[in-house]
Amino acid sequence: MAGHLPDGKSRNLRALAERIRSRRTTNLFLKQEVSKDLVLEAIELARWAPNHHLTEPWHFYLLGDKMKAASVELIRAIVTENKTAELGEHKAKSAAAVPGWLLVTCTRSDDELREREDYASCCCAVQNILLYLSEAGVASKWTTGLITRDQRFFELLGIDESEEYVVSLIWYGYPKILPTQSRKDVSEIVTETD
Ligand SMILES: Cc1cc2nc3c(=O)[nH]c(=O)nc-3n(C[C@H](O)[C@H](O)[C@H](O)COP(=O)(O)O)c2cc1C
Repeated sequence: MAGHLPDGKSRNLRALAERIRSRRTTNLFLKQEVSKDLVLEAIELARWAPNHHLTEPWHFYLLGDKMKAASVELIRAIVTENKTAELGEHKAKSAAAVPGWLLVTCTRSDDELREREDYASCCCAVQNILLYLSEAGVASKWTTGLITRDQRFFELLGIDESEEYVVSLIWYGYPKILPTQSRKDVSEIVTETD
């Protein structure tokens, strides 16, 4: 069949497999900005994640320069309060070097099962974003650091904590270096039944 390789896998399928395999959580980014249009395309794709009862439980906050600067200062304060001033300084410096900040939240629900399933959907949405950015050469880090659980961060962003909670703060940018990773062998994680 046209477009298929001898072993039956299409080039597209191989490319997709390689994209999934090669996406890496990255800490060090170049200063180069990532285009807002690219991130908006990633968000457009995020919402095609599976979501039970079509709740579409996600919301995306794309942080501008002023909000990023305020968030860096908040990280400095939070880490200083919880750890040490030296670590606060270090974390603030690292955060200030991150070009892109995208916060993903999930709608709360009184129904425990729904909230669990909505969280699962939001995680799928985050992965869509990470993979799309990765395909565009943009690396990322899914973070759930202290700032993502701090009331002051929600106030900065105008988030009502009784309505939504943070799933992921995605830090993104063009990578300085991509780390390597490994996974368990497939034989260790698969149980085949009759
Ligand atoms: C729910 C969740 C929360 C995470 N929070 C953090 C975090 O706060 N800091 C961090 O360095 N990495 C965080 N990560 C990234 C993981 O550490 C990373 O995915 C793992 O080391 C595997 O590396 P890989 O993404 O390159 O495969 C988080 C990942 C997930 C799924």
